Amino acid sequence: MKQSNDWNPDLYLKYRNERTQPSIDLISKIGISFQPKSILDIGCGPGNSSQALLQRWPGAVLTGIDNSINMIEKAKTSYPGNTWIVADASKYISDTKYDIVFSNATIQWIPNHKDLFKRLFNLTNIGGVLAIQVPRFNEMPLAKAIQKVANQENWQEATKGCSELFTFHDEKYYYDLMSLDYRSVDFWQTDYFHILDSQYSIIEWIRSTGMKPYLDCLKNEEKPLFEKEVLAEIKGDYAPQNDGKVLFPFKRLFMIGYK
Ligand SMILES: C[S@@+](CC[C@H](N)C(=O)[O-])C[C@H]1O[C@@H](n2cnc3c(N)ncnc32)[C@H](O)[C@@H]1O
Repeated sequence: MKQSNDWNPDLYLKYRNERTQPSIDLISKIGISFQPKSILDIGCGPGNSSQALLQRWPGAVLTGIDNSINMIEKAKTSYPGNTWIVADASKYISDTKYDIVFSNATIQWIPNHKDLFKRLFNLTNIGGVLAIQVPRFNEMPLAKAIQKVANQENWQEATKGCSELFTFHDEKYYYDLMSLDYRSVDFWQTDYFHILDSQYSIIEWIRSTGMKPYLDCLKNEEKPLFEKEVLAEIKGDYAPQNDGKVLFPFKRLFMIGYK
């Protein structure tokens, strides 16, 4: 497996509102009548999802974990007063249990979801909640275009193994995982239509996330060329509207488990 370079929080936050909306939607659907005392945000990134959690429950003590030093630094600077920890969620264990264990747009970066979900269950208090959103990125034309370009002869060697950095399962897989352990579960899917300025905006969006592992494998001078080829590949899938804007559909799976 290839090692990824660290994340760039500023690049990531260029589409802050669009990236945070799924957290807001997930948080609004968590059906509890008590005030949670403790919240764990797994893959908290620059703290945007954590801030959305604290907006609903300002009295809770929030811990954010992320394995990116840059992301944790950004979260610390933007939202001091919370606990921010550099940690790999696939290995994270803690004696502390949390009323809410939350993760937005992160678990696809973590392998072995059977093990991960056991770990998350163990981190959740009895009566508490696990709430997760995972993008269905692998099903999108954009993901297919990136993989198609990566499979081309000129990129094949350099980008070998990049797609293995992601782990995706469907709702049936997660239902079977969660229904065993939780008192009740709630699942839904939302297809967002992000309105972007141009087709190039899609490249700007994805270069800090889903295309990042591929770009990390390339030399600096190769990166713009790779992006150009992906842009050419997606042109038919994300055609501009009459006003020049582009609709960028983004399907996301939401899961809540009540322990
Ligand atoms: C797409 S960002 C999501 C950030 C934020 N939760 C949000 O809602 O916008 C994914 C985050 O997961 C983190 N991440 C990826 N793999 C991880 C792992 N194994 N353990 C902890 N964090 C991880 C990345 O560093 C990144 O900050």
